[in-house]
Amino acid sequence: MEQVYHIPVLLNESIEGLNIQGDGDYVDVTFGGGGHSREILKNLKSGRLFGFDQDEDAAANAFDDERFIFIRHNFKYIRNFLRYKGVDQVDGILADLGVSSHDFDVAERGFSFRFSGDLDMRMNRNSSKTAADIVNSSSEEDLIRIFKDYGEVENARRLVRQILSARQVKPIRTIDQFKEAIAPCVPKKTETKYLAKVFQALRIETNGELDVLKDFLEQSMELLKPGGRLVVITYHSLEDRLVKNFIKAGNFEGKQEKDFYGNVASALQAVNRKVIVPTEEEIERNPRARSAKLRIAEKV
Ligand SMILES: C[S@@+](CC[C@H](N)C(=O)[O-])C[C@H]1O[C@@H](n2cnc3c(N)ncnc32)[C@H](O)[C@@H]1O
Repeated sequence: MEQVYHIPVLLNESIEGLNIQGDGDYVDVTFGGGGHSREILKNLKSGRLFGFDQDEDAAANAFDDERFIFIRHNFKYIRNFLRYKGVDQVDGILADLGVSSHDFDVAERGFSFRFSGDLDMRMNRNSSKTAADIVNSSSEEDLIRIFKDYGEVENARRLVRQILSARQVKPIRTIDQFKEAIAPCVPKKTETKYLAKVFQALRIETNGELDVLKDFLEQSMELLKPGGRLVVITYHSLEDRLVKNFIKAGNFEGKQEKDFYGNVASALQAVNRKVIVPTEEEIERNPRARSAKLRIAEKV
């Protein structure tokens, strides 16, 4: 049976959150399998949709539709690429962060501990640094920070000690070599959960995901027209915190600065007071949705 590229997460909730105007300009910065984009297009008449994805596999899913423009680049350059297309401001921006199921399901992309293959994890295969490069060349302190902060790995120090002693013998290049190197500190009872955290941490570092998100949020605020919507789906607590703080305060620390009249100096206003999460029914249908969190904001 042919594998589905990706099942869109929180589809109705996020499309509703965009509050689509038929003649508006919209951006889906994480096109992937085009699940969200397809729904946006259904709601557009004369409006346009710009779809970003840095992954060449996603490019193969691009639609043949005159209202759709695909941009095969990192969305951290969203402002420049839209300007290049003659667009200064848009009515809505959607980001559904992370990688597609397709990437997890293809062995040679190196994202999943279920397979053998190179320890790669680059979303953009033209970028220079793979997960293996990080494992082999980062300092002890950096590796501890990566596994602690991005993976919340409890025994990060011990894990890093294992990596350092293995790489002294020979460079770690493949998923199997990596798993063998860290085997002594993988808890037997919770092996899958532990490996998922370790691999997630490496993926976030390999693709600079948190820095990219910050660049993107700052540019989005400028790119939205007044009344325009920002819709972001995250899968990691650090990402969600950045989005939440940015909507609340216009900065990543969440520190609200008030003017003389007591108004908060943020150009965004949360549309929903509480974060939106998938229903149990959605999680049952699509377990990869389980950690998703959706936040919607409107440009003031
Ligand atoms: C979770 S998937 C999106 C799935 C999509 N919403 C759908 O319904 O098919 C995330 C996609 O965003 C892409 N992506 C992640 N970070 C990116 C970045 N910084 N620049 C461009 N594309 C990125 C990944 O390659 C992946 O295809």
